[in-house]
Amino acid sequence: MTLEEKAALCSGKDFWHLETPERLGIPSVMVSDGPCGIRKQADAADHLGLNASVPATSYPTGSCMACSFDRDLFRESGETLGHACQAEELAVLLGPAVNIKRSPLCGRNFEYLSEDPYLTGELAKNYINGVQSQNIGVSLKHYAANSQEYNRMSSDSVVDERTLREIYLAGFETAVKGSKPWTIMCSYNRINGTFAAENKRLLTDILRDEWGFDGYVVSDWGATTADRVKCLEAGMDLEMPGKNAANDKQLVEAVKNGTMDESVLDTAVERILSVTLKYLDNRKPETVIDFEADHEKARKIAAESMVLLKNDGILPLKREQKIAFVGKFAEAPRFQGGGSSHVNSYKVTSALEAAKDLRVTYAPGYAIETAEPDDAMIAEAVETAKNADVAVVFVGITDAMESEGFDRKSLSMPKNHEALVEAVAKAQKNTVVVVMCGGCITMPWLDDVRGVLYAYLGGEAVGAATLDLLFGDVNPSGKLAETFPRRLEDNPSYLYYFGDEQNKTEYREGVFVGYRYYDKKNLDVLFPFGYGLSYTTFEYSDLTVDKTAMQDTDTLTVSVKVKNTGAVKGKEVVQLYVGMPKSRTIRPDKELRGFEKIELEPGEEKTVSFTLSKRAFAYYRTDISDWCVESGEYVIMAAKSSRDIACTATVQVESTTAIKRVYTMNSTVEEIMESPVGREIVGKMMAASPLAQMDDDGLGMGEGMERMMMEMPLRALISFGGDSVPEGMGEMLLQQLNA
Ligand code: BGC
Repeated sequence: MTLEEKAALCSGKDFWHLETPERLGIPSVMVSDGPCGIRKQADAADHLGLNASVPATSYPTGSCMACSFDRDLFRESGETLGHACQAEELAVLLGPAVNIKRSPLCGRNFEYLSEDPYLTGELAKNYINGVQSQNIGVSLKHYAANSQEYNRMSSDSVVDERTLREIYLAGFETAVKGSKPWTIMCSYNRINGTFAAENKRLLTDILRDEWGFDGYVVSDWGATTADRVKCLEAGMDLEMPGKNAANDKQLVEAVKNGTMDESVLDTAVERILSVTLKYLDNRKPETVIDFEADHEKARKIAAESMVLLKNDGILPLKREQKIAFVGKFAEAPRFQGGGSSHVNSYKVTSALEAAKDLRVTYAPGYAIETAEPDDAMIAEAVETAKNADVAVVFVGITDAMESEGFDRKSLSMPKNHEALVEAVAKAQKNTVVVVMCGGCITMPWLDDVRGVLYAYLGGEAVGAATLDLLFGDVNPSGKLAETFPRRLEDNPSYLYYFGDEQNKTEYREGVFVGYRYYDKKNLDVLFPFGYGLSYTTFEYSDLTVDKTAMQDTDTLTVSVKVKNTGAVKGKEVVQLYVGMPKSRTIRPDKELRGFEKIELEPGEEKTVSFTLSKRAFAYYRTDISDWCVESGEYVIMAAKSSRDIACTATVQVESTTAIKRVYTMNSTVEEIMESPVGREIVGKMMAASPLAQMDDDGLGMGEGMERMMMEMPLRALISFGGDSVPEGMGEMLLQQLNA
């Protein structure tokens, strides 16, 4: 290939196609969004889901599907999507989207999986393995710290290193190591001052050198900066969308004038071509999509994911009941989000349509285009509700309030949706609410209704799946993958979310994102992370650990018995959290380190096992730039949700990381006493100190005084010691300590 051909290959041929050396017999390939269905645009192209795309199955969005806590479901869904990509002749599916839900305001939370990086990483890994098993690549996105839509193309996410590693990178890390994505999409934003596209530390040092990524990095559509050479050198191989002749020229010039080594270009070309060839060598254009079968898969995923938030016994409903469906979403459901993930759905099943053979009456109750309550529509809905045994109110958030490209303004539903729930609940004591929304909302009416089913954005089969759950044909098993706060103001990012005038968004809450924050603060929440009801009940017992003491290089096997104590078959998500109550590091009380979804017949009991290794106990230590375990006692919690711990066990973990401490005159007595030499010498100095004399005089040093002594720096200890400390003693001590 000529230099010019190589440079040309580093930007797209058009909005969705890659440039390839067709002269050498390699045809151009196409990529498409992603992640919850295929958005293949045959004609006019855009990155906001505005123009038409070919019909495809619309699956539940990430925020919905993550509530399944089901690795197999993610794998199967990936396989189905990969299969469809083969049929549509797409080399890469642009997803999954795995940014962390830092604030419930993020307009794109509906696409993202969770506030928790462990859950995110595990689910993404399985989705990717599924897609790539069909010889289709994914583009894991948006790398990284892209947790807001507000000013998404220019904002600067200012995140400390530990938070970056533990919260914002960890999901990507798990996915990269566990599923080797063919491509990664860098985000629009800056991270600590450097645009993702120019960020060598993220794109090369961490992604490739530490995690072993060997595919190509593609820019988010339009994320390449004006300095194309810098981007390429950082590891951003492919610029999208479309041809950027000026940027290609920059690359050619840089090689010609010697400012960039041609090998940098060669590497990028090799990466892009090897991924492309991997697809081309395994193409199956004869593949046929079975849209009806995929519609049923979408229904199954939705039913496994939606979360039953409240049920005082009203649910499941009975088919012979006279039921009023109110709310326009019963007829015109909200089932997917706006923006690049928007799919031209093959067909949509509304709840009303799914209920056509039942004794169901209907009134829309509100218009979708406005948020203003309409008294006549509400009155009609109230009448319909009154004349039925039960009312099911379908409400949520509209497309105008939640989408890619902008953030939500509040957690409230539109006024007309709120008003409808309130009016119906007053008129009909048997009221159930079905919420369709990409993220969380506040529920001022929660106490006035008897049941709440959170459908999220349930994909094109949303109506059928909703009925499956309402009537108990499927027992609900979804668990929230995010905390629902009582108020927006309770969210830890609330004070800093929209950044300052320099467009800097400081992630000042650090690692305290989601339940990590709410739990530590002991804040009352509307619904906790991991919460979700079932039509049966489960009992946990006999949590056992295979050892009570271990080194951090060992693994720990944890098992717990779970029994279905109710009358119907059901699935339970068994969650495993780890915490270190006496940690000397600022850490969350507990962190999710394992989960398993199991199915149990009534009365059946199963033992669920987990294996925990070093990372389950570790935190990221910036002074050694590595994961490290603090020696001490850890609590292992088997739980039904982050706020419902069923059984616990403890294990003593000893760290094998040798951390060389450099002692100085500012080292505290406590730090010095951790070394045997220090203990001996400082012990004597303390015994001779006036404070210890006071203690001898019977004045009582007490716990507080003792803390004061322990926290005293060596220099102060010497100075308080006065004549009792020989000259040069401090220096001598430091020499011995640092030897
Ligand atoms: C989005 C990406 C998407 C791309 C192409 C961008 O605006 O952020 O997620 O893959 O457009 O549509």
